Amino acid sequence: MDTKNQEIYNSKLVDVEEAINKINHGDTVILDMGCCEAIGIEEAIVKHYERFRDVEFYQMIVCGDTPFADPKYAGHFRYNSLFASSSNRKAIAMGYADYTPCFFYEMPEVIRDIIKPIVSICSVCPPDENGYVSLGANVDYIGSTLDYCEVKIAQVNKYVPRTLGGAVRHISEFDCLVEIDRELPEVPSIPLTDVEKAIGKNCASLINDGDCIQLGIGGIPNAIAAELTHKKDLGLHSEMVGDGVVDLIKSGVINNSKKNIDTGKTVISFCFGTRKLFDFIDNNPDVLLEPIEVVNHPLTVAKIDNFVSVNSCVQVDLMGQVVSDSVGYTQISGVGGQVDFVRGAALSKGGKSIIAMPSSAKGGTVSKIVATIDDGAAVTTSRNDVDYIITEYGIARLKGLSLRERAKALIGIAHPNFRAELEQAYEKRFNQKL
Ligand code: COA
Repeated sequence: MDTKNQEIYNSKLVDVEEAINKINHGDTVILDMGCCEAIGIEEAIVKHYERFRDVEFYQMIVCGDTPFADPKYAGHFRYNSLFASSSNRKAIAMGYADYTPCFFYEMPEVIRDIIKPIVSICSVCPPDENGYVSLGANVDYIGSTLDYCEVKIAQVNKYVPRTLGGAVRHISEFDCLVEIDRELPEVPSIPLTDVEKAIGKNCASLINDGDCIQLGIGGIPNAIAAELTHKKDLGLHSEMVGDGVVDLIKSGVINNSKKNIDTGKTVISFCFGTRKLFDFIDNNPDVLLEPIEVVNHPLTVAKIDNFVSVNSCVQVDLMGQVVSDSVGYTQISGVGGQVDFVRGAALSKGGKSIIAMPSSAKGGTVSKIVATIDDGAAVTTSRNDVDYIITEYGIARLKGLSLRERAKALIGIAHPNFRAELEQAYEKRFNQKL
């Protein structure tokens, strides 16, 4: 680093205890998420929990533990999730923690104008010679908090990849820098099941050469990626990506050559994968990490022709109402960018949105296509927004279909073990034989 930037860096470098002392009783703190959670700083806060009273933490998806949601810290911490994860679902269900629904593209504005955090805590890679760091695997909502939070603390971590685009910030933007090198939490790909492979094939059949894709969260995206190896000139514009896309970009299947905006570039807002992905995005000028309010905005997606979004869900009822983030009364995840991309794809010339899911859950004991959604469940994608539904048994395009036609199409792609009971529900509802 040059002398001027080295001086700036040195003036902000503190040990972790000094950094967390900037958090006052009653403060609201916004935390980095996913693979770039600032775990070193979070652990220090938890270790010194007795110093804090009524500090509220907001955060989206996490890969590991959520200590702030532990009831033993009641009175010290309160955790408010913007996307429930397996480590905090129970706390939310029991009332020890909260969940706040919010479209992902709106999150930066909601955080700034309504949640109003005082403190922002994130991870960055070490600075370059000009004093620039990168937010690494995550820009999402955290990038914009640097523009207005009163206290901005960063964990400088050599394992954080130096990603480009909106991820690049200058050390002068932070109040405290804390050097803690920690391997990033990883989300490994799980071997694909035959059901996922069949879903991947059905989805891939709707993706044409030259299309631009978005892949959501869960087991399905890697299954789709595996089926795209023979396609050409695909684009990628996605709030998140996992390891599945790396080989597609390396092999040139995804080259972004046909994109109307950001031509030649892969644009994402966060990564949910392993070191394979972190190394791939490190200093890669072909991959831009941009703020979520830009990447996910339906009007951004609308500018890209032939946009195909693929997301997954928990249940679809016979009208095409899609439940994706709750199982009955239990909040299991969040809306994330599902609706942002469903709506963006609907606005894209030649675009389509796909909701892809296995036809059954819980070891085949429950159908994911249901007559009515479970009590307490929330509709994520409305029946007015929904377009394609895919299972391992086929493809149902619901847009433009009547309620009766929708129900028929969905029963046709339901698991055979549940078709008879769905047919009965159809006959009761529509007062006629199927
Ligand atoms: N009835 C009861 N339980 C169900 C169910 C159903 N119909 N469908 C799923 N589940 C349970 C599973 O058993 C699993 O429970 P477990 O964690 O206790 O094992 C849990 O719900 C998650 O299901 P799973 O199939 O493992 O999920 P996944 O990892 O493939 O992800 C979604 C699927 C729907 C949860 C995920 O895609 C999501 O959160 N989507 C909403 C947000 C979104 O699409 N955002 C865009 C990108 S961020």
